[in-house]
Amino acid sequence: MNNNETLDPEDWDKMNSLAHDMVSDMMAYLRNVRERPVWQPVPKVTKDFFNASVPLDRQDPSDVYKEFRQHILPYTKGNIHPRFWAWVQGTGTPLGVMADMLASGMNPNVTIGEQSAVYVDRQVVDWCRQMMGMPESASGMLLSGGSMANTTALIVARNSMLPGVREKGIFGLEARPVMYCSTETHSCVAKAAEVTGIGSEWLRRIPVNGDYTINTDALEEQIGTDLDNGLRPFCIVGNVGTVNTGAIDDIAALTRLRDKYNLWLHLDGAFGALAKLVPEYAGKLRPIETVDSVAFDLHKWMYMPYEVGCVLISQRERHKAAFAATPNYLLHHERGLASGPESLNNYGIELSRGFKALKVWMSIKEHGLYKYAAQIEKNIHQARYLGRLVTSQPRLQLMADIPLNIVCFRYFVAGIDADWDQINKEIVMTLQERGIASPSSTVIGGHYSIRVAITNHRSIHYDFDLLVSETLSIGDGLYSLQLTEK
Ligand SMILES: Cc1ncc(COP(=O)(O)O)c(C=O)c1O
Repeated sequence: MNNNETLDPEDWDKMNSLAHDMVSDMMAYLRNVRERPVWQPVPKVTKDFFNASVPLDRQDPSDVYKEFRQHILPYTKGNIHPRFWAWVQGTGTPLGVMADMLASGMNPNVTIGEQSAVYVDRQVVDWCRQMMGMPESASGMLLSGGSMANTTALIVARNSMLPGVREKGIFGLEARPVMYCSTETHSCVAKAAEVTGIGSEWLRRIPVNGDYTINTDALEEQIGTDLDNGLRPFCIVGNVGTVNTGAIDDIAALTRLRDKYNLWLHLDGAFGALAKLVPEYAGKLRPIETVDSVAFDLHKWMYMPYEVGCVLISQRERHKAAFAATPNYLLHHERGLASGPESLNNYGIELSRGFKALKVWMSIKEHGLYKYAAQIEKNIHQARYLGRLVTSQPRLQLMADIPLNIVCFRYFVAGIDADWDQINKEIVMTLQERGIASPSSTVIGGHYSIRVAITNHRSIHYDFDLLVSETLSIGDGLYSLQLTEK
């Protein structure tokens, strides 16, 4: 055994040349994205390739890269493509790619210490605070995504509103705690209720109005009933952009209920909160400035490479009280590496954290907030454009209003008895398998619906025209087939 051996390359020049190839290949890959299918299935040969057992011997890095090009790169999800609108997934940018490379090269652990990355992280969180118009007293944290951001906020809500719970746990409380959200709320909030010990049964799912916003009368009634029954209502979760249709709850009304019943008001604004940057939405979303916490994703509607989400808590002290812990091995010093800003360990669960702030920092500088606002606004206008295309076609049906950037529709011929759910599911799968477009699906009013969520800076009007014409052509084929089979 050679005790001086490391994991660095034996031949740095060769590694440098390979690295340059990787960068040029990736830039060409991004530049030509429109020419490729949105998605293609993973072939058997590739699936088999991933069954190989752990390598014991060394392999040349250029061979490893060849394997990447053959088996990994072609079979990606496709969310960098202009016609990817499935779930709610962002596209990323070329500079974002490079920022992630730089961050990995520096490889800092961004929690503690006098180091530049901690200052960048703090600045990015403060920029996020400014974007949401939260008070200067607010604090925040960059996390892997909306699920972790919502969960972190709900831990702060629980610890802040239910004193003693950090030490004694839920069973030490005198009254059973209850949370509220609408039936349209993302499933990560129910998971958060489970992992915080509240229990998903004690997360009351309040019915929605016709526009899929929370029914605040029903909410108040439920709070009253729970109080009468000796329970402890402590938190409302509102939506700024529901995952199904993009509905925005009446935040001002939720704020009034928060004040009246002494509750915590959290908003899941995973994508919708960023519409606050768009002048048309700024007024409607101004109440975000007065809530107790908000979660949103920069990898969704700020088009940053995965992963990066953000949680903001309006009062730093409450945020800190929920997580603060200083064991002997994390002591702060007056000078040296262990000096610097307060450890971020005091504001979340994670101790080890990557340098995800760098891609946000570089990207916001590259484009400036005005350009992001314009891209978000463009996506909202594209959703309305698609809505108009849908309503202008007699064989397409719009399934919900378009308050933001999500369009739900289906292929449907009124008065005809056919298995429309099956036909529309086939349309979605065929669009994807032919590499034409990647919408996803949901169920609206009991009907399977094609769902297009636009957080894509690369989409242009042509892409929506193509989606509609191909949906009609696939749908027509399936529809006549069903008629002949009957
Ligand atoms: C409204 C909403 N909340 C939460 C999430 C979860 O976010 P993430 O996937 O980043 O964990 C999503 C994801 O699409 C969402 O749309």
